[in-house]
Amino acid sequence: MVQNKNNKAIWNTRIKKDTSSIFKKVGSSIDVDKRLFKEDIDASIAHVEMLLKQKIISFKIKNKLIWGLNRIKNEIIKKKFIFNSNLEDIHMNIEYRLFEIIGEDAGYIHTGRSRNDQVITDFKLWLRSSTNEIIYQLNNLLKIILKDAEKNIETIMPGFTHLKNAQPVSFGHYLLAYVEMFKRDKKRFQNNLENLLENPLGVAALVGTSFNIDRNYTSKKLKFKNPTHNSIDTVSDRDFVLDFLYSVSVCSIHISRLAEEFIIWNSDAFRLIKLNDKIVTGSSIMPQKKNPDPLEYLRGKTGNSFGNLFSMLTILKGLPLSYFKDLQDDKELVFNSFDQLKNSILILIEILKNFTPDKKRMYEFANIGFTTSTDLADYIVKCHNLPFRKAYQITSKIVNYAESRKIKLNELTIKELKKIEPKLNEDILKVFDLENSVKSKKSYGGTSFENVKKMIKKYKKETK
Ligand code: ARG
Repeated sequence: MVQNKNNKAIWNTRIKKDTSSIFKKVGSSIDVDKRLFKEDIDASIAHVEMLLKQKIISFKIKNKLIWGLNRIKNEIIKKKFIFNSNLEDIHMNIEYRLFEIIGEDAGYIHTGRSRNDQVITDFKLWLRSSTNEIIYQLNNLLKIILKDAEKNIETIMPGFTHLKNAQPVSFGHYLLAYVEMFKRDKKRFQNNLENLLENPLGVAALVGTSFNIDRNYTSKKLKFKNPTHNSIDTVSDRDFVLDFLYSVSVCSIHISRLAEEFIIWNSDAFRLIKLNDKIVTGSSIMPQKKNPDPLEYLRGKTGNSFGNLFSMLTILKGLPLSYFKDLQDDKELVFNSFDQLKNSILILIEILKNFTPDKKRMYEFANIGFTTSTDLADYIVKCHNLPFRKAYQITSKIVNYAESRKIKLNELTIKELKKIEPKLNEDILKVFDLENSVKSKKSYGGTSFENVKKMIKKYKKETK
């Protein structure tokens, strides 16, 4: 609490006893919200300038307040500021210090505002720049994936459904699937920025204020588009917090899915990729081990971002209007999700720079599991003018035969094939070629090398 000269809380004229020390301790949020100091001071400066413009305070007072606020900002940046948990939060800490620096005139600063609108203003400003930072990092991530994809346009691997080899695919195309996911994430964060454009400052505690304030003026100063429209909703609303936590969760899912795929591909059973020593850790007992810990970290941390989203959803459910202490937890959840996502993106970038696909193994593996069966069925449809279902049956027979002989489709002779279906001719053997298979998937969005090249070009333009 801000205390007056007699070291009593500012509300000591009304509340006669000191708050219980246990609650003072746990109810204080300064360790978390001191991260908002810059936004808090910027918003205070805009508020003070507005108070002058509206002739609510004098020029002299305005200068004094702004001088004091800038001095505090400097002290915090230079780590000379002493945060006091008895003063509850960042707003009270700054106000208290302002009293110390400029004396009783500091008391003008809280004219026509409340901590309730102050905290959301700070928080929205913080979220704006932090969302932009995530967008920037996602863009870096996209660039790295595109680089990897470009190097692997013609690298053939098996595509999977149900984790069973399905059809041959370009590894570049596979990576571009993640480009789509992270592009959607970027868009989701960009959309959130739109929702952060309304200025809460000036709704005061919950009903607005009788001072002749100008909320359009502070909106402009703080680069908001317009003031919020309902004072009660403004101090109660944390939808923008949910939006952020949800966006982080979805992005974490994408990171986690990629991490899981890399863990599988790096396993001794698959051996499709190799992780460079920079992104593995060892075992304390098994000298031979190189474990994909950073990938597991990414997968594991996803749970943390879901937890933060769920905490906030639960805090808001059934909470009456308007401000309640419950809401104070929003910042800890958001800061935690932000830090975690930023670290995860940075780690993922490192991983994508430090792995090598085993192209030979990928190719061989793509030829396991009769992966060109669909190509064969398609060929029969095209060359013999048969319905797809009929071609499917003929193909099944051929696959059954190859399986019983323990050979691959491209090891079948035309003689063997003709025995099963006399209509077939020599030409058919080319459909078992993996490269031909991939090249033939020219439909829009498909895996043909040609398509992948075009898509990389398009994505590159978008992520400049
Ligand atoms: N530290 C508080 C929070 O983060 C600021 C708002 C306090 N308002 C109040 N009426 N107690 O929520």
